[in-house]
Amino acid sequence: MLKRVHPPRPDWYEEFYASVLDSSMKSYEKEIAGYKSQLFSNLRGKAQNVLEIGIGTGPNLRYYAADAGVNVFGIDPNRKMEKYARAAALAAGLPPTNFEFKLAVAEALPLSDASVDAVVGTLVLCSVADVNMTLKEVRRVLRPGGLYIFVEHVAAKDGTILKFFQGVLDPIQQTVADGCHLTRKTGKSISEAGFSRVDINMAFLSSASLINPHVYGIAFK
Ligand SMILES: C[S@@+](CC[C@H](N)C(=O)[O-])C[C@H]1O[C@@H](n2cnc3c(N)ncnc32)[C@H](O)[C@@H]1O
Repeated sequence: MLKRVHPPRPDWYEEFYASVLDSSMKSYEKEIAGYKSQLFSNLRGKAQNVLEIGIGTGPNLRYYAADAGVNVFGIDPNRKMEKYARAAALAAGLPPTNFEFKLAVAEALPLSDASVDAVVGTLVLCSVADVNMTLKEVRRVLRPGGLYIFVEHVAAKDGTILKFFQGVLDPIQQTVADGCHLTRKTGKSISEAGFSRVDINMAFLSSASLINPHVYGIAFK
């Protein structure tokens, strides 16, 4: 499934993308920090086993991994993300025994049904091959009452200049940013994915230029 959904990229491309992600997101992470702090505070005391899909370089770990006893299972199809994610886990104070990184895709999660308390996914539904299959998998692995915390960039409003440029640049974005789509209506997909409740908000981040607006929130199984 990993190879079918995310055919292996050349080594240099995976390393290039991982290192660019690691170095280029600093101002974005600074701007979104307030939103993330508030969002991830919902996990405190409620989530011992957390799955992060498309964990990348691990920029979210600092918000939730330091809580006592938390086990984090991070998946990503890019093997070059592992060293960055491990370093981020260590920096967040997560003991190495409580962190596992697995090469996998979110469309076929290597976990059993109802096995995690929370799923975290930021800027990842833009990149998966199949959004609906991913959301189905997120619901499958969450325990009843479990939380799905998300931050995603979505298509701008139809008819806006931003939407026009997103449409024009979408193919280039997919090539340079490992399959990232600019024009997905991800908020709608999450709202219609069959969660028992979805609390969804919108934000526009000046550091993200074309990658706007964002939807962020919590879906409850
Ligand atoms: C824009 S990066 C975001 C990384 C990280 N979540 C963050 O917020 O910085 C997208 C991530 O999704 C991963 N990805 C791509 N296709 C995926 C898939 N089918 N399943 C899970 N992760 C995927 C990429 O390798 C990359 O790490």
